[in-house]
Amino acid sequence: MIKHFPKIEFPTTRMRRNRNVGWVRSLVRENTLTANDLIWPVFVIDGESKVESIVSMPGVERITVDLLVDNVGAAMDLGIRAIAIFPYVNPELKTPNGGEAVNPDNLVCRAVRAIRDSNLEVGVLCDVALDPFNSDGHDGLLKDGMILNDETIEILCEQAIVQAGAGCDIIAPSDMMDGRVGAIRDALDAKGFKDVIIMSYAAKYASAFYGPFRDAIGSGGALKGDKNTYQMDPANMNEALREVIMDISEGADMVMVKPGLPYMDVISQVKESFGMPTFVYNVSGEYAMVRGAGDQGWLDYDKAVIEILTGFKRAGADGILTYHALDAARLLNG
Ligand code: PBG
Repeated sequence: MIKHFPKIEFPTTRMRRNRNVGWVRSLVRENTLTANDLIWPVFVIDGESKVESIVSMPGVERITVDLLVDNVGAAMDLGIRAIAIFPYVNPELKTPNGGEAVNPDNLVCRAVRAIRDSNLEVGVLCDVALDPFNSDGHDGLLKDGMILNDETIEILCEQAIVQAGAGCDIIAPSDMMDGRVGAIRDALDAKGFKDVIIMSYAAKYASAFYGPFRDAIGSGGALKGDKNTYQMDPANMNEALREVIMDISEGADMVMVKPGLPYMDVISQVKESFGMPTFVYNVSGEYAMVRGAGDQGWLDYDKAVIEILTGFKRAGADGILTYHALDAARLLNG
């Protein structure tokens, strides 16, 4: 980039020349947002032909697996090419060791199989972590008030294998245990899943903005304590870069920063430092804020959504997991 111009002074230079009309603004636009950049997170529940609303996420629903294929097909018609599936697991199936996570017929695996059976050409991402299945709401095994790292990894590897076996394309460890990316890569390879992609939740912060998600999957009420011993301190940047380096060296194909809006600087540093395919999770609390304010008429929801998602692209994100995906895609399609 040329850093020194001979003359960039007013009135020779008038910045507004390139802003005066729509066509020139389009010509000089530096970043574009398309529906292809979006990953749509979907919540699934047991049962048939049921749709449940989520109080803290107006406009987002939990749906049964039989409704999933049609809904995903409609999202694809809008240009969305990838989804993330999250289960609301029935409370009676939740145990202290999250055993349901490794059941090849659990809700997530059934949802993935339904998509695969439909032959829709959509990328399917699944979280690897125990929280939807664990009676204490934690991502790992809790013993005597401590989250066990290495014991948790063994279960996560099995969880990744059952999800890959169901046909999941992207395994996304969201648990923040140390060493899990390498262990999951080895476990997948050993079972012949060598082309399954790993998108690591590399820099995942201990955030207040996950609250509505925990309502959505029913893990919040039971959560014992907080996740501060495994998720990152929001104050830290250097630590985020070290987390990302470690995940890359363990074999992550893509890395993620989470949440999004309070961590724009982290997205941009991660992208600049490593040049990896870099994703951001525009999380449930961020959705709830914008949706809530929009519903109150306090801001223009449509414009705010496009501004936020474009901001992620500008910061360096290649793609965005967002509950605004369907609204955004509709807006982008005019
Ligand atoms: C679980 C997980 C969480 C989210 C994605 N996977 C919550 C948590 O860590 O407690 C949050 C997503 C959101 O808030 O939208 N490991």
